[in-house]
Amino acid sequence: MNRHGAQLVAGLRSAGLVVHPILVGDGEALKSLGRIIPIYARLARSGLERGEAVIAFGGGSVGDTAGFVAATYLRGVPLVQIPSTLLAQVDSAIGGKTGVNLPQGKNLVGAIWQPRLVVCDTSLLATLPPRQIASGLAEVVKYGCIARPDLLERTERRLSRLLGRPSHIAATLVADCVSIKAKIVSHDERESDLRRILNFGHTWGHALERTAGPTTLTHGEAVALGMLVALELSVRREKLTRREADEVGALLKRIFPRLTFPDIPYAKLEGFLARDKKVARGLQVWILLRRLGAPVVRDGVPRDAIHEAVLVAAERWACT
Ligand SMILES: NC(=O)c1ccc[n+]([C@@H]2O[C@H](COP(=O)([O-])OP(=O)(O)OC[C@H]3O[C@@H](n4cnc5c(N)ncnc54)[C@H](O)[C@@H]3O)[C@@H](O)[C@H]2O)c1
Ligand SMILES: [Zn+2]
Repeated sequence: MNRHGAQLVAGLRSAGLVVHPILVGDGEALKSLGRIIPIYARLARSGLERGEAVIAFGGGSVGDTAGFVAATYLRGVPLVQIPSTLLAQVDSAIGGKTGVNLPQGKNLVGAIWQPRLVVCDTSLLATLPPRQIASGLAEVVKYGCIARPDLLERTERRLSRLLGRPSHIAATLVADCVSIKAKIVSHDERESDLRRILNFGHTWGHALERTAGPTTLTHGEAVALGMLVALELSVRREKLTRREADEVGALLKRIFPRLTFPDIPYAKLEGFLARDKKVARGLQVWILLRRLGAPVVRDGVPRDAIHEAVLVAAERWACT
């Protein structure tokens, strides 16, 4: 990454390592087959051999792309992840999912390729803009909902410090999220029901992200809106209480005070939903909550119920 990359390269070289830096840019535009071909060419020109590592240094977009390059170049070379955004430190750098987008959908081409090493240096977050901090906090809220409700209260308590001075993000908050994800993935690497719970908020979130485009919504903002819909569905179809749902809704509202559902026709969003990877036997898979910390995987949620939950969530939490 441009900002901190020189320091990383200098550090690695002073440790005696041979480093060939490749500046790749970032954002969703990077995650495409077209953008990885020149990266393969640079690896070939630098003579990278099978035992030598690719280091992914940047946010989740760099991690997903460089991870996929590592998974496929020479049928796989070792991968090191050094995530530089909160979202990447708590989520995307862990678990081995790598991949790029197609025009037809997000992350449709990819591989599971576990990193040999993940280095989360929270001091990198000092330069992260507040919008990106908020985006990462959406995934922290996700872990709170699916596994550790105490994370919700801890995030709530520290919120103004977290948003105001990103360097105050406690390494323990990142470490707790990493350990939740690592535990889930180590039991279920290839996404049967257990790993699927990590998609809480992502069914609707991915559809929004793809239709609105990355300049309108960050990944975390889309997931926050997706969680509001999933929470509403959980109140209506599972046993989640209104109080529990409101607790999370209010926290998301504090993290994203101005977040609104983008003005996209419902039919268009549904089309994206149908092509999402979270489709099994033609049915969309939703992660709902029986209570905070108790997720369930559901695949028969009727479209009317989804539509209604979107309208109610928008009215309650995310309208101007
Ligand atoms: N593989 C997985 O399991 C997984 C999980 C969650 C999300 N993702 C993917 O991650 C991607 C989103 O990742 P992201 O939110 O990190 O976005 P990103 O990689 O686009 O980075 C966001 C912005 O932060 C900037 N940035 C990065 N580090 C910085 C730093 N230390 N200081 C200042 N600016 C910095 C970048 O230049 C960029 O503008 C999405 O493509 C999503 O699909 C993957
Ligand atoms: Zn996510």
